[in-house]
Amino acid sequence: MTLTTSTPARAQRPARTARPRRYLMCPPVHFDVCYSINPWMEPEKPTDGRLAVVQWERLINLFLGLGHQVEQIHPVPGLPDMVFAANGATVVDGKVLSARFRYPQRVDEADAYINWFRERGYQVHEAEHINEGEGDYLVTGSRILAGTGFRTDPLSHDEAERFFGRPVQSLTLVDPRFYHLDTALAVLDYDEIMYYPKAFSAASQAVLRELYPDAILATDSDAEVFGLNAVSDGRHVLLASQASNLIDELWSRGFVPIGVDLSELLKSGGSAKCCTLELRELPAR
Ligand code: ARG
Repeated sequence: MTLTTSTPARAQRPARTARPRRYLMCPPVHFDVCYSINPWMEPEKPTDGRLAVVQWERLINLFLGLGHQVEQIHPVPGLPDMVFAANGATVVDGKVLSARFRYPQRVDEADAYINWFRERGYQVHEAEHINEGEGDYLVTGSRILAGTGFRTDPLSHDEAERFFGRPVQSLTLVDPRFYHLDTALAVLDYDEIMYYPKAFSAASQAVLRELYPDAILATDSDAEVFGLNAVSDGRHVLLASQASNLIDELWSRGFVPIGVDLSELLKSGGSAKCCTLELRELPAR
């Protein structure tokens, strides 16, 4: 038998480079599903708090093992969704746009995150308009993609564009199961994305096709297991292990998919990306 070093398909795969990241995460010690603000949340269904912590610890250990830095914010009792750090703010060029939550149950999370950033010397702009942080703001190389339809107010998109000084592209979500942009779209590298077309309005689908003709498109089953709620460092992509079509597609494009199991957090409508807020660049201090 002859051993080939590379198949033709492999030879075409682009070489992928990981860039070390800095993330902010919140341990799910107070996690529970005791209210319902999205179709995944069924308060009558039991949650296993210990398992939630174990699954979350595996995620943080994967990040550390890949060489990323992880900061932790102290979880506040009475804020069971605070584990979803992605919603806590949006950080670009070391500048922080605070979150302003849509539902009263989560409103107090915003201050906890504002204080965390201020204590570390970040410039924080307290948002005028409702926005749920990186749940609805995803940063690509050349623009910021911004979700609306369920949580973030479209007026926040203008506020973000002014504050960050980067172009913001609004996208409208239409399926209540995919209520945040990061449940329907993930940034893989500079200007490469994967997304679930049916989560978007027809006009937004047209925008995405135009901007990202080579994007990976998720199937219904990939989207339903929250496969798009993924975290990429440019090479490694952490996503729900059941998202098998996405995983195959990522391999074929030269990425290294790493499956994670966050079944407890999925009961609240969250997965890997929801737990992870990227801190882009250190504060200037
Ligand atoms: N239960 C939370 C909510 O509905 C889940 C938030 C998930 N976070 C995210 N970045 N998609 O607000």
